[in-house]
Amino acid sequence: MRRLADEILIPAETIASRVVELAREIERETPPDGEIAALIVLKGAFVFGADLLRAIRRPTRVGFLEIHRQSDDGGEVEFVFTHPFPIEGRDVLVIEDILDTGVTMNALLDRLRARRPARLRTAVLLDKRSRRQVECPVEHVGFEIPDRWVVGYGLDDDELYRNLPGIGWVVENP
Ligand code: IMP
Ligand code: MG
Repeated sequence: MRRLADEILIPAETIASRVVELAREIERETPPDGEIAALIVLKGAFVFGADLLRAIRRPTRVGFLEIHRQSDDGGEVEFVFTHPFPIEGRDVLVIEDILDTGVTMNALLDRLRARRPARLRTAVLLDKRSRRQVECPVEHVGFEIPDRWVVGYGLDDDELYRNLPGIGWVVENP
């Protein structure tokens, strides 16, 4: 059995101010009338994406995609758009919850590049840097975190805890 640890890793207020900083970074690199085609990776990035996009003062389109994995230990990964989302010629901002090994993000970026965006950049809330197996270019990172299974603010443990306002982690119940 697992349970939520008593301590909080990143409180909601800390996330909120960092998200605004990320939005300002992204704005600085986007012309005043530059359109952004934001792509939120479900389910984990739904909270981060909603907060980040509301803080970005640029005309923005929003798309969603789901990741379907054949097995838990890697295997074939499929990216499924919930609705048609034009990529070609657009300034695409991928919004993801967490970078772990980097395999998922790398595969996604390859897939999107093939659809010829004008620009492709990424915003990731959390980065477990020590776990990286493949180099992965991410422009905007919220927080670097230790190697723990974290939950909350959209992230889950077996579909639980996505609704926590901050980031916590789960521990094995003795
Ligand atoms: P990667 O391909 O190893 O980088 O895995 C990234 C994906 O694994 C993320 O998009 C998350 O869905 C999931 N993931 C990795 N670490 C965590 C965690 O600590 N909590 C919740 N989900 C995680
Ligand atoms: Mg994810």
